Amino acid sequence: MLVESIKNLREILIKHKSTSESRIGFVPTMGYLHEGHLSLINKAKVDNTFVVVSVFVNPTQFSPGEDYENYPRNIENDYKLAMIAGADVVFYPSVEEIYPEGASTFVEVEGSIVMKLCAHSRPSHFKGVTTVVNKLFNIVKPDNVYFGQKDAQQCMVIKKMVSDLHIDINVVVCPIIREFDGLALSSRNTYLNKKEREQSILLYKSLVQAKLVFDNGINDVKTIKETIRNIIQKSNLAQIEYIEILGIENFETINVIDRRAIALVAVKFGSTRLIDNVIIEKE
Ligand code: PAJ
Repeated sequence: MLVESIKNLREILIKHKSTSESRIGFVPTMGYLHEGHLSLINKAKVDNTFVVVSVFVNPTQFSPGEDYENYPRNIENDYKLAMIAGADVVFYPSVEEIYPEGASTFVEVEGSIVMKLCAHSRPSHFKGVTTVVNKLFNIVKPDNVYFGQKDAQQCMVIKKMVSDLHIDINVVVCPIIREFDGLALSSRNTYLNKKEREQSILLYKSLVQAKLVFDNGINDVKTIKETIRNIIQKSNLAQIEYIEILGIENFETINVIDRRAIALVAVKFGSTRLIDNVIIEKE
């Protein structure tokens, strides 16, 4: 079922909650669905009795000059794919439905988790994400919500918001789904031209190499970051935004990898910004 209004969605959810051993699973997306999104919906289907998928290109998480207007959209196809993957309802609200005229309340996580990595190039991005996700949580009132590890910083920020605001929702983080050659699936991959697409695999290659270097006994963060940089720089089109290796618990700065860390990269190809990450740990 495709539902556009909050009122209709609430009616459907109330009905479902009253008739069964209800467990509501929720997958928030901005649409243009690919296998990455679908893996979250599949997982939600397994864990829950009712699955809501939202498709909403959220204007407040785009900075001025970013791709809000041009962000790829195809609701007919999204609807079909989401239903096949296991959605019971696709929630497709308008901007006015989510941000009615005069709406002036925002939710913002402060502190080190939001100030690093993507925050440098996208300063108000996470404020937009936490605001819309909080609104969607209040509309859907799910038991379980599904996010992808692909957006590792987003997962951390959402978990922090859920914990700080005592939101009674279980956050499930799902693994990164990749193309056959390792590129992490993203709606933005469609922007890449042929040359950029060929060179984009260096992101994943560099992260795999970082793991190998660690497995071979090198645990110095500076050296591993250099390994990543050298590989990405083989591309003449890649503009590196950041290469980071941080502690897995709080994205804390570390100099040496003891047991577990996360390596994250953001690289621009032309105006297309790609992100990826891997967890580096002792087997
Ligand atoms: P969007 O980019 O559409 O992503 C929706 C969800 O799909 C996110 O949790 C994201 O991490 C996950 N995802 C994207 N690519 C993936 C991949 N290759 N493998 C696994 N999961 C993947 O993230 C957003 O939308 C928005 O910020 C949103 C949370 C919906 C708020 O507007």
